[in-house]
Amino acid sequence: MKHLLAPSILAADFANLQAEIEMVNSSEADWFHLDVMDGVFVPNISFGMPVIKAIAKHAKKPLDVHLMIIDPDRYLQTFQELGAEVLTVHVEACHHLHRTVHVIKDLGMKAGVALNPHTPVSALSEVLDSVDLVCLMSVNPGFGGQKFIERTYAKVEALRSMAKGVNDELLIEIDGGVGTENWRQLVEAGADVLVAGSSTFNSVDPHLAIKAMKGMTDNG
Ligand code: DX5
Ligand code: ZN
Repeated sequence: MKHLLAPSILAADFANLQAEIEMVNSSEADWFHLDVMDGVFVPNISFGMPVIKAIAKHAKKPLDVHLMIIDPDRYLQTFQELGAEVLTVHVEACHHLHRTVHVIKDLGMKAGVALNPHTPVSALSEVLDSVDLVCLMSVNPGFGGQKFIERTYAKVEALRSMAKGVNDELLIEIDGGVGTENWRQLVEAGADVLVAGSSTFNSVDPHLAIKAMKGMTDNG
């Protein structure tokens, strides 16, 4: 499968959100990555329901919602109603991950589970057959623009081999510090979805940056 690119709106210009959304709509990017932070699970607060509702009104591509919040079970249905197509919860934030994953699927969304950098992929062994996406955090979650953790390559490979024969459809997403210099190595290691915040929105030419990370330019 050709890899997907999901620009993270966290790095967009919030004062010009509609224009930023239209840029993604008209680009080669595949999904919108929306980071919801509660100031408890992670040391930062980003945006919540009203902003997602405003984004959904203009977005013409799937919404990939990444919940960095404690006790996400309280809001699964709300995010479904807001239009999330992929809903990702953190393994570290769920007491009953198996149930949470099944509720997300029963609500008609793709179920994603994210792992912090310190969490081994083996934490997913009992739910791997039920999840649609695993998001490997390649930075400690909470902020955009952080340095990519190199250990992630080995983690992608380990997860891909763990999923073999158990869930061959599994999408592996990488989130944090992804850019034009490392996207290819991540795809070669087995990644399917690349989240790119600063490398998209802080670029002088976001359309070109997206194309480069999709492998659509000569020097990409
Ligand atoms: C980090 C978020 C990421 C973030 C990535 O906690 O989950 O999605 O926006 O930003 P960059 O691509 O700038 O590292
Ligand atoms: Zn994210």
